[in-house]
Amino acid sequence: MQISNYIQQSFQVNYAYRVFFSDHIFEPTNTQLAAWLREQASPHYRKRLLVVADDGVWQSHPYLQAQVSAYFQAVKEVELAPEIIVIPGGEACKNDEALFFRLVDAIDKYAIDRHSFVIGIGGGSVLDLVGFAAAVSHRGVRHIRIPTTVLSQNDSGVGVKNGINFKGKKNFLGAFAPPAAVFNDAHFLTTLDARDWRAGMVEAVKVALIKDAAFFEWMEGAATALAARDMDAMQKLVFRCAELHMQHIGGGGDPFESGSSRPLDFGHWSAHKLEQLTNFSLRHGEAVSIGIALDSVYANLIGWLDKPSMERILHLLQQMGLPLYHPLLDMQAGATSPVIKGLEEFREHLGGRLTICLLKAIGQGAEINDMDVTLLQQAGDILKQLTVVSQ
Ligand SMILES: NC(=O)c1ccc[n+]([C@@H]2O[C@H](COP(=O)([O-])OP(=O)(O)OC[C@H]3O[C@@H](n4cnc5c(N)ncnc54)[C@H](O)[C@@H]3O)[C@@H](O)[C@H]2O)c1
Ligand SMILES: [Zn+2]
Repeated sequence: MQISNYIQQSFQVNYAYRVFFSDHIFEPTNTQLAAWLREQASPHYRKRLLVVADDGVWQSHPYLQAQVSAYFQAVKEVELAPEIIVIPGGEACKNDEALFFRLVDAIDKYAIDRHSFVIGIGGGSVLDLVGFAAAVSHRGVRHIRIPTTVLSQNDSGVGVKNGINFKGKKNFLGAFAPPAAVFNDAHFLTTLDARDWRAGMVEAVKVALIKDAAFFEWMEGAATALAARDMDAMQKLVFRCAELHMQHIGGGGDPFESGSSRPLDFGHWSAHKLEQLTNFSLRHGEAVSIGIALDSVYANLIGWLDKPSMERILHLLQQMGLPLYHPLLDMQAGATSPVIKGLEEFREHLGGRLTICLLKAIGQGAEINDMDVTLLQQAGDILKQLTVVSQ
């Protein structure tokens, strides 16, 4: 018998999931989700469902408790757990380890095995937490996402990342775990407060800026309608944004982010730091808007993005009612200013080599491996001036 000093292992795993679009998903006459569940049915396994819902959604749609139970009970191929778990929504749920263990306990208690599903209904925060709890229980219970915010329907809910915060660090604990399916229900968006309606649109601006100039132009034309909560315009925005995110993740890129290149994180390096520094009083989308503004002005200062394009970006964000500036962008303290420290932390997080996506033009992102502190200070100052002028 021959032996060697290593054995080579290599395999591929195929992932496929669908993102559905609908409204009033739990109305008895809406069969989209029921039909999908029936497709998953197996004569060999009893598939159980554990529903975890966002308190903000439950309060805005009080009929849901009864409607959701009735809907699943009508699908005889699956068995609903006796309890629907309702948890506080918003970033706070990602900072609460006890909630994470409560979900893991429920997965255990209600025998949610690897043939069953955990179903998250809520904003990106609840979905990140639910997806993570599912991903680490039994080494991976499948999860279904029902996103209820603009941001989760067009970005976070359609991708492969899940996670919670740890010691104040965003998404420090997490897992790459694609959903089994995603169901986007437009009706949920009607009850979002003004901040969440607006904040979610920024991810569409982001992905358009790095990949799709025509989509950016469409948003410029639709900005007034979008800001006025026109649902038809919003559904188009959500669809195209989700499609661009999914194409990027699945399109031969790097779905599990083993490299440093993360174009979908355009505008995010400072945003994550701003969220943390403001104790999450800034919404993720608001922080990203400021981050995009900062990086767009910076790209202009280094001669990448022309001034008219930079102005179009800032104008669109303003028309959407999104912020461009926060006092933390005052970076006169140089290396010791908190946002600059965030840049250093990001460099460490990436393993020592900074990779940041900036804009060459609208619709064209490109990478850079260094950022100049003095120019960043200047970019912050320019935004401060603009904000003062426009007030
Ligand atoms: N996993 C990813 O790839 C990814 C990508 C981008 C962002 N994120 C994460 O998503 C989170 C932000 O998610 P978000 O912007 O969806 O906000 P959110 O989940 O924090 O929710 C904001 C608020 O809206 C409430 N809410 C949710 N749906 C509602 C509805 N239909 N009607 C009324 N109120 C409702 C919630 O209860 C909460 O109070 C952040 O933690 C961010 O880091 C994750
Ligand atoms: Zn984001």
